[in-house]
Parts: sequence; C-alpha cells; structure tokens
Amino acid sequence: MRQHRIVLLPGDGIGPEITAVTKNLLIALSQKSSFDLIFEEHPIGGTGIDSTGSPLPDSTLKACKNSDAVLMAAIGNPKYDSYPREQRPETGLLKLREGLGLFANLRPVKVWPALLGSSSLKSEIITNVDLMVVRELIGGIYFGKPKGCIETENGERAFNTMSYSSNEIERITRLAFEIALNRRSKVCSVDKANVLDVSQLWREKVSSIAKEYPQLEVSHLYVDNAAMQLVREPRQFDVILTGNLFGDILSDEAAMLTGSIGMLPSASLSSDGPGLFEPVHGSAPDIAGSNKANPIAMILSAAMMLRIGLKETEAADRLEEAVDQVLSEGFRTVDLMEESFIELGCKEMGEEIMRVL
Ligand code: IPM
Ligand code: MN
Repeated sequence: MRQHRIVLLPGDGIGPEITAVTKNLLIALSQKSSFDLIFEEHPIGGTGIDSTGSPLPDSTLKACKNSDAVLMAAIGNPKYDSYPREQRPETGLLKLREGLGLFANLRPVKVWPALLGSSSLKSEIITNVDLMVVRELIGGIYFGKPKGCIETENGERAFNTMSYSSNEIERITRLAFEIALNRRSKVCSVDKANVLDVSQLWREKVSSIAKEYPQLEVSHLYVDNAAMQLVREPRQFDVILTGNLFGDILSDEAAMLTGSIGMLPSASLSSDGPGLFEPVHGSAPDIAGSNKANPIAMILSAAMMLRIGLKETEAADRLEEAVDQVLSEGFRTVDLMEESFIELGCKEMGEEIMRVL
C-alpha cells in the first residue's frame, strides 16, 4: 500500500474549520483508493505565536521538511498587527516558503460553469476562462535586501528592494514554460520593464529562454495593462508568468473572475522537496468560528496536492468532480449565494461533497 505523510497546518481564523472538512474528505478518499494518508498537525502563524512565541516554530518547519506534502489552511489575525514583523503570522508563512525553497506558486483560475452568475463580471466575459498564474515566490521585493526603516534628518524613511537574479528568473520561467506546454502553449510574462531595472532583466531573460521554446507563444505585458486586460478579456490568457509582488496582486484580481476568492487553490513547489498546498484566500477572522467559510479552495488545494505532490491522479479527479457536482446541484456557501440556490455552512458543504464522493 502506498503511504503519504501529510503535514496539516490549520493556522488561524477559519483555518481549523476548513481543515477539518478537508481532512475528512481526504480520509474517505484514501479509504476508497489504494493509498494510506498519515496526518500530523502543527501550529503556524498566530497559533504558532500563541503556543511557542514564533509564527513558524522550528518543530513545524522540521515536520514539513520531512513530509511528502504540506497542506495549509490560512494564517493571519489583525490582533498581531502591532507586533514586530518577526512575530507576525505572515512572517511564518514567508519563512516556510523560504525554508522549503518553494520558488514557484501555481494559481489556477478556472471559471466553473455553475458559478457564472456568482462573479461580479458579466458571464460573457468570463465564460471558459482557464488560466494559471505562475508567481515567483521566494524572491523579488518580498525578500530583497536591503530593507528596513531608518531615521533621517527628514524623519523616518522605510524601504524595500525589488531584485531578481538571472538564475531566479530562469528557474521560474522554465517551470512556467513547461506548464504551458501541457496547456494551450501560451505564456504572458508580466513586468514593469518601462520603469524598473529589475523588470528589464526579467524581460530580457524570459525572451532569451523563449527562443528555446519555439512551440510556445510568449508575450509580455506591463503589470498595469495586465491588470486591465484581466477584467477586459481574461480569455486571452493561458499561463501568466510574473514576480512575487505582481503575482500576489494579479492572483487576487483573477480570483474575482471565478466568483469568489473562496474557490481558488494553489500549489507552491520547490525543485525537489515537498510542496505546500494552500488556498489563495486568507484567514477571514471576521467569520471565524461561525461555520460560514467556503471550504472549497482548500478542498481544491488538497486535490492539487493529490495530483502534483502525491501523484494520486485518480483521487484528485474524483475530488474535483465531486466539487463540480455539488455546485451543479445548486449548493452554495454564503460567499457564492444567488437567489434560488441552497445555502450551506462550511461543515454541510463538506458533507455534500462527501455524499457524492
Ligand atoms: C498570498 C498572501 C501572502 C502573500 C501573505 C499572507 C504573506 O497574500 O499567499 O497571496 O502576500 O504572499
Ligand atoms: Mn495574496
């Protein structure tokens, strides 16, 4: 029997609720298939700070490194906003990404036919949208040095550095290109090369690697234009390749094409070690504990984990099909609600998906 060791990181806010639902589905799937899942749970983010003083306890990072895949829910709570940066939940997630070498963040944005009416955009704009944001995850302005805040004669001055080396650009570009070869063979690289030196190097590198991939159609957009094109004509995109900050912003924008950020999964990958699979949304502290959260982004992240991280393709298909069926039957969490549909809580949505699994 195949065995997979999974580290679960429920984190903060709605994290524990959506984790419980997802874990139940994974257990049921493994029982129906011929593999075993061994779960370990560890604190991260606010729960890490509260239990050990660190948003990424050493024991959590160690367990993640020793796992076959990491499935995280969400981190963050405004109660830590006044803490020093080292002791904020977000720092735990950034350190985990860095510690596992997760340079590539894959965010598929697929419009589900059943949810066409839930988007704030017109359905004729979003029908058949199927794109993938490939975001560089451990470089750029999130990690660039120098950074900090200094006293000057004109008061405080704070700064970050946006930098990319050609090696960093090359590895994310090659990965995006390989992904595109298995899709519609189109890559749009997004930068701000009309203003930023770092983007100029980015564009040069992407263009030069593109010469090795004549099968691909590679184009470039400035980030401001890309933001506009995403809502103007999103079907023009297949793979969007971009850096850390632009990818963060554009993926939230792209999420709105699907109706709710509660639908968007992601996979973060390194060159060899375990991947980290997590919903794109945050911890939603305002609805935590009220059974209102949409667990689907995490369930779809679990499907990405099965497919990409554990190579359990059949189980991944099954889980995605179950989500599709439940949505087609008219079941919705509150974030997706429209008139005449059936509103469910987080737990009940999990039960419906379990029923059709
Ligand atoms: C995301 C989040 C994170 C990011 C935060 C929580 C650090 O917004 O995964 O998109 O900015 O990368
Ligand atoms: Mn984000």
